[in-house]
Amino acid sequence: MPAPVTRDQELELTIDSLAFGGNGVARLNGFVVFVRRGLPGDTVRARVTKVQRRHAEALATEVLRPSPLRVDAPCLHYPACGGCRFQDLAYEAQVEAKEAQVADALRRIGGIPEPPLEPILPAEEIFHYRNKLEYSFTQLEDGPTLGFHRAGRWDEVLEIEQCWLTTDHGNAIRNAVREWARGDRLVAYDQAEHTGYLRHLVVREGVHTGQVLVQLVTGPGEKFDTGGFVDALRHFPEVRSIHWSVNETAAEVTNLPTQLLWGEEAIEEELCGLRFRVRPNAFLQTNTRMAERIYGVAREFAALSGGETVYDLYCGIGTIGLVLARDALTVWGIDISEESIACALENADLNGIGNAAYFAGNVGQALEELHERTGAPDVVMLDPPRAGLAGKALKRLGEIGAPRIVYVSCNPTTLAGDVKRLREGYGYELRRAKPVDMFPHTPHVETVSLLQRDT
Ligand SMILES: C[S@@+](CC[C@H](N)C(=O)[O-])C[C@H]1O[C@@H](n2cnc3c(N)ncnc32)[C@H](O)[C@@H]1O
Repeated sequence: MPAPVTRDQELELTIDSLAFGGNGVARLNGFVVFVRRGLPGDTVRARVTKVQRRHAEALATEVLRPSPLRVDAPCLHYPACGGCRFQDLAYEAQVEAKEAQVADALRRIGGIPEPPLEPILPAEEIFHYRNKLEYSFTQLEDGPTLGFHRAGRWDEVLEIEQCWLTTDHGNAIRNAVREWARGDRLVAYDQAEHTGYLRHLVVREGVHTGQVLVQLVTGPGEKFDTGGFVDALRHFPEVRSIHWSVNETAAEVTNLPTQLLWGEEAIEEELCGLRFRVRPNAFLQTNTRMAERIYGVAREFAALSGGETVYDLYCGIGTIGLVLARDALTVWGIDISEESIACALENADLNGIGNAAYFAGNVGQALEELHERTGAPDVVMLDPPRAGLAGKALKRLGEIGAPRIVYVSCNPTTLAGDVKRLREGYGYELRRAKPVDMFPHTPHVETVSLLQRDT
């Protein structure tokens, strides 16, 4: 049967729910239309942007009857800024939608009709929660400035005066760098023309320590007074570490080698009572307080009694494994980032933890060797990136056959696919799954899951 809508058609739609990824879901005689900028309960006028056999996509151009779940968004830059998608949806509705998305993924993709889902853990703070932000420079008529990409635009940066996801310090530091760049008459890099110099600014804050790390990313060549840049930041006693990176490519990246301009190589953050050193390129969950809550759930699911061998796969700077080490016999961590592994080793020392060891490597390739060296694990902690257990990782993990897997996921669709493959291929059953909201006002949702197999 042909789709009942055509491209560019104007429709009046009522939004039922939010789909994974953040678009509203509306139905036209059963035919699904995903509506960008439509919130549950809204009736909107929408223009169809794409038509496929089973569904269409549309953009809400006007809210005809606003949802009772709408609230006022506090941010001046909302909704033009691409950082937040749902500041105008009541927080309770945001978490309800995220919980439903995890349930839906486990049913539809995971093939589990009644997933053992526990209630979502809402965020402790719905604003000012991010400990890291990456800004882009852009050139205005009166000089360079800093901001985020406009919603839906890779080629346009919106100047930000106050971001509600960072702290007052974070906002003040960004604005001080903007004033420094203007005072020194520097020019922002132009992504389309590949001209100009200033590219990105990364600001990381240790929420529990108050320490701040700043990384400036420019094009090639030393075209600024490094001393002047350091002076502009040293007004802030929290700033402990100032780095500079050069990006010689067209790619918009910030995970580049860094040169220390001033201060310490790394800052520290505290999680679950332990200290962690964080270097510029090392991974740290970007919401400190909710990371602690996630590790708490992971610890509960791991149910360690002191005698277990634990693998911490995709371990980053060792956070989860070091939190678990107190209750385990040994912890073995793997991460692909050498900088993160260097931090993990330092962090074990810093906290006087002697029963955790870390190796740099790709999980898919390094897992077999780890297994040969250490013997079988009792518990495997997994915290992969959004793609889930990619490459050979899932097969190798299944073959090792640990009795208990605790899977921390930032993508319910890949989690659900991996859960299905672990069940069908290796006999693992999903016993518990708890969604956690780490990123209010965005479509992201984390899930901590416990998988077990009978041995
Ligand atoms: C979501 S982070 C989790 C980090 C850590 N568990 C934490 O809570 O902070 C994912 C980590 O996977 C690492 N990673 C990505 N692909 C990898 C791979 N193929 N093998 C090993 N590590 C990988 C990244 O460097 C990153 O540190």
